Amino acid sequence: MKKIEDIINLMIRRGFVFQSYEIYSGLKGFYDFGHLGVLLKNNIKNLWLKFILKEDNIFLLETPIITKSEVFKASGHLENFYDLLVECKSCHNRFRYDVYLKGDYGKVKKNNEKFFCPLCNGELTEPKKFNLMFKTYVGPTEESSTQAFLRPETAQGIFVNFDNYTKIYRTKLPFGIAQIGKAFRNEITPKNFIFRIKEFEQMELEYFIDPNDKIDWLSYWLDKSMNWYINILGFKKDNLIIYEQPQKELAHYSKKTLDVYYKFPFGEDEIQGIANRGDYDLNSHLKFSGKDLRYFNDKTKQKVIPYVIEPSWGVERILLALICDAYDEDEINNEKRIVLRLSPNVAPIKIAVFPLLSNKEGLINKAKEVFDHLKEYYLEIIYDENGSIGKRYRRQDEIGTPFCLTIDFQSLEDNTFTIRNRDTLQQERVHFNELLNYFKEKIKKF
Ligand code: GAP
Repeated sequence: MKKIEDIINLMIRRGFVFQSYEIYSGLKGFYDFGHLGVLLKNNIKNLWLKFILKEDNIFLLETPIITKSEVFKASGHLENFYDLLVECKSCHNRFRYDVYLKGDYGKVKKNNEKFFCPLCNGELTEPKKFNLMFKTYVGPTEESSTQAFLRPETAQGIFVNFDNYTKIYRTKLPFGIAQIGKAFRNEITPKNFIFRIKEFEQMELEYFIDPNDKIDWLSYWLDKSMNWYINILGFKKDNLIIYEQPQKELAHYSKKTLDVYYKFPFGEDEIQGIANRGDYDLNSHLKFSGKDLRYFNDKTKQKVIPYVIEPSWGVERILLALICDAYDEDEINNEKRIVLRLSPNVAPIKIAVFPLLSNKEGLINKAKEVFDHLKEYYLEIIYDENGSIGKRYRRQDEIGTPFCLTIDFQSLEDNTFTIRNRDTLQQERVHFNELLNYFKEKIKKF
C-alpha cells in the first residue's frame, strides 16, 4: 500500500514542492513548485495543449486573474459560490459544515440540536455562508465601486469573450475556447498537501455547441480525456474512476457533471470535472451586460444561445495523481529503492549523463561533450558526477528519470555509452552517432 506521507516526503525531499513562505512559518493552502515541479507542471500543460489543439476548432485565450465584480454578479458566483462554515465558540477553529457532518474532522458530536467542536468540544456556531472568492480593490480607494475578485475559475474570462471569437475569428459551432491559468479559492480547510489549495492552475475548455446538436459531447470529452490520461500521461487505467455528481452536488450552473476521480492513497477524489453548463453563462452575461451574445446560425438563419460543455482539469491535482500513480518501491541488491515510474512523456528529467568516475578528467570531458550535444535537443537533461554511480542512479530513480547514460573507459576508445533503463534496469550500449535516434524512439512526442 502506498502511503501519502511517503509520497509527500519524496516530493519535498527531491524539490518538487515546498511550503510557501516556510521561513515565516508557512501559509496554509499555498505551495511553491521547485525546478522539478515546474518542469513536470509544464509537461502536463504542454501535453494538454497538444491534445486540445489536435481537435478541430479549438482556440486559445488568456484573460486577467483580477476580475470585475459585474462578471461574478452575472455568473452567480457572488451569490452561490460559498461553503457553509461553522466556528467553535471556544477555540475559534473553523470547519466546513458538510465536511464536519461527514465526520472527516473526527467524530460528529451532537446534543440537543447543537454541534460541538471535534478539537476542543466547545459549542459550534450555526452554519453561515462563506464566499470562497478573494476580494480586492482596483485603484487607490476601497469602496464597492472599485471592488474586484481573484477568479475562482478561468471559465468566466472565456464567456465574456465569446462575441470576440464569433466576430473576429469567425468561429462556427461547435468550437472551443481554451485557457490555462491561475484560479483562487479561499478554501476553509485546504488539505492533502497540494490536492486542495487556495491558489492553483486550471486548464479549461468551454466547448460551445448548438442547443439542438444531438451529439453526446459530454461523453466525447470524457473519452478524449481518459485517452489522454492513459495513453499520453501514462496513468494506470484501474486507478481512474468516473463519477456522476448527484443533483444535490451540482454547481449552480450545471445541468449534469461527470467527474474523473483518481484513487489517491488518502481516498478517491476529483482531478477533473466535465460539466454541461447549458446556456446558463452566456444567457446571464447577455442579461447583465445588455450585449447580444447570441450566435447566428447561417444555415437556419436563426440566432441561438449556444450550450456549453466544459471539461476542466486541475494541474496540481493531476501532478499529485501522476506522482502517486508512478510511485513504487522495490529492491536492488537487497536494498530498498524508491522509483517514480513516470512515462518518458511527462518525466521532468528525461536523460541523466554521468562520467563513471569523477576523478578521471578524460571521462569528465567526454561526459560533458555528450551532455552538451544532447542538450541541443533535450532541455530536460541533467549532468551529475557526485557520489558513487549507484547513488547517482538512485537519485534519478527517485525523480523518475527514465534513462541514465554513463561514460566509461570503453567510451573513450569506441565512442559508445551505456544507457540504463530505469524500469527494466537493462543496460544497452549505444554509439554516439545513434544517440539521437535512440532517444527519439524512446521519448516519443505525440
Ligand atoms: N469551471 C469549472 C470548475 O472550476 P471545479 O470542479 O470547481 O469546476 C475544476 O474545478 C478542477 O479544478 C477540479 O477538478 C480540480 O482539478 C481543480 N480544483 C478545484 N478546486 C481546487 C483546489 N482548491 N485546489 C486544487 N485544485 C482545484
